[in-house]
Amino acid sequence: MLRQILPLLLTALLLSACGEVEDTRPGQPVASRQKAFKAILRSFEPMGVQLRENRYAPETFLQHARALQAQKDTPWPHFGPDTHYPPSKATAQVWQAPERFAAEREHFLKTVDALLAAAESGELSRVKPAYQAVQESCRSCHKTFRQ
Ligand code: HEC
Repeated sequence: MLRQILPLLLTALLLSACGEVEDTRPGQPVASRQKAFKAILRSFEPMGVQLRENRYAPETFLQHARALQAQKDTPWPHFGPDTHYPPSKATAQVWQAPERFAAEREHFLKTVDALLAAAESGELSRVKPAYQAVQESCRSCHKTFRQ
């Protein structure tokens, strides 16, 4: 008996611990953009680790910069009108100040281009500030547009 119930209990516990709300809308706009941001983070974070731990490896860094470049446009098409609902962590500002949101996005895209150019040079002195500029642009947008 316990053998059957225990896995169920554990599953229930795990689910409630996450408290995830499922995106049930057609096309899953919220889940899709969150997935896109997570993928962006997975390319971005390893570059930060290299720089923080003083082990810049130009080849793998360049691969991550290329991956980020390929992903940079992925979240934005999923911010359609009327897509501010749970489990979204976006603020209402995304829809109330669309020009500002677009400006943050355009700035982000430019910093990603510049990071790739720096990574292609293989020069740490160029790569560091370029990485920081991207990081600043993530933060700047999140400050207003993410909860
Ligand atoms: C132009 C604005 C903007 C920029 C630039 C931006 N983000 Fe975000 N990000 C958002 C918004 C808005 C959300 C919330 C999306 C939602 O939950 O609906 C978000 C969510 C996220 C999430 C959470 C995803 C989840 O599963 O809840 C991660 C991780 C993330 N961003 C990482 C990054 C990283 C890393 C960068 C820079 C490399 C970045 N973002 C740049 C606006 C931005």
